[in-house]
Amino acid sequence: MQDVTTTGFMRVIGRRGVPDWFVTEYFRVHETSTPEKHILDSIQNHGTARPVFAQLIGEDVPHIIRTIKLLQAYPIAGIDLNMGCPAPKVYRKNVGGGLLRDPAKIDEILSAMRAEIAGTFTVKMRIGFDGMENYEAILDLINKHKVDLLTVHGRTVKGLYWSEVNYPAITQAVKKVACPVIANGDVTQATKATQLIRETGAYGMMMGRHAIRNPWIFRQWRELQQGQPVYQPKLSDVRTYIQELADECCDYSMHSERQAGRLKKFLNFIGLAIDTEGKFLYDMRRTENLGDLLKCCDAHLMGTRANEIYPDEPHRGLIARPTRETQQTCEL
Ligand SMILES: Cc1cc2nc3c(=O)[nH]c(=O)nc-3n(C[C@H](O)[C@H](O)[C@H](O)COP(=O)(O)O)c2cc1C
Repeated sequence: MQDVTTTGFMRVIGRRGVPDWFVTEYFRVHETSTPEKHILDSIQNHGTARPVFAQLIGEDVPHIIRTIKLLQAYPIAGIDLNMGCPAPKVYRKNVGGGLLRDPAKIDEILSAMRAEIAGTFTVKMRIGFDGMENYEAILDLINKHKVDLLTVHGRTVKGLYWSEVNYPAITQAVKKVACPVIANGDVTQATKATQLIRETGAYGMMMGRHAIRNPWIFRQWRELQQGQPVYQPKLSDVRTYIQELADECCDYSMHSERQAGRLKKFLNFIGLAIDTEGKFLYDMRRTENLGDLLKCCDAHLMGTRANEIYPDEPHRGLIARPTRETQQTCEL
């Protein structure tokens, strides 16, 4: 996830029950692009011993090939193509989710990528742009070009992050494609992941925002699958998580207001499960520096509340922060 799956975040997640693999933030590919240094750093220094897939976003075939050649020198598990980013600035350039309108272009890109990628080639896609008219044709292309793994976020591009997730469409992909399918979209907790495996026949689940809110989600799902007691974090554990995010993800040489801004990016998601009325979100958004922000976290998570269980699900009716979630700021 852009601005989220950084080296520091991966390290913090890794200490709480690591996923089976990670996918990087996307590398932007265009005429003058070079792989972003901070994303290369996340591939090399996440410290979790788990595989990392390098994700690309772009549509310019020669430059995609050039980028793949550069990335293959790094310790990556494979290359992933982004066909899902819903930010208008991105899709208007016919990349990310924008590609879903153009199966002929997808055919050309997948063909070239398959020919260049010696190892594992994966694709992450949504179920369509504003409808599903190209879905079957695109799934055929996934088969035609022998993609090794497909992740389906069960929303259209126009559905952004809030429309109801179309899990039957994920089942449709599971039935149609030869490779394993990973289901994505509102996999909020371990029990839902287990239920969705049964319902969709998917090979696995991808968790995005819900892993920011609950970094124990991978561990909890593993424990559930193995019939072990499922770890239940307390609010004091959430406070420790927040401190680690501050230590690993905020650049302490920056102005304190900017450090607070960085931490708020994560707190927007974590705050969805702290109280039902959104008081934490309200208070934390009004702090102006990192010191005050951490004091606000103490006030809401420690003291008499420290031993309260942190809920598995976000509270209904609270919103993270729409402008960031739609990635309006992402550019290619
Ligand atoms: C802040 C943010 C950044 C994201 N960046 C990426 C990205 O770089 N590549 C990608 O494939 N998906 C990206 N996504 C989408 C997520 O990977 C995921 O598909 C989506 O949030 C739905 O899953 P969830 O309900 O578990 O969050 C991003 C989502 C968010 C909220």
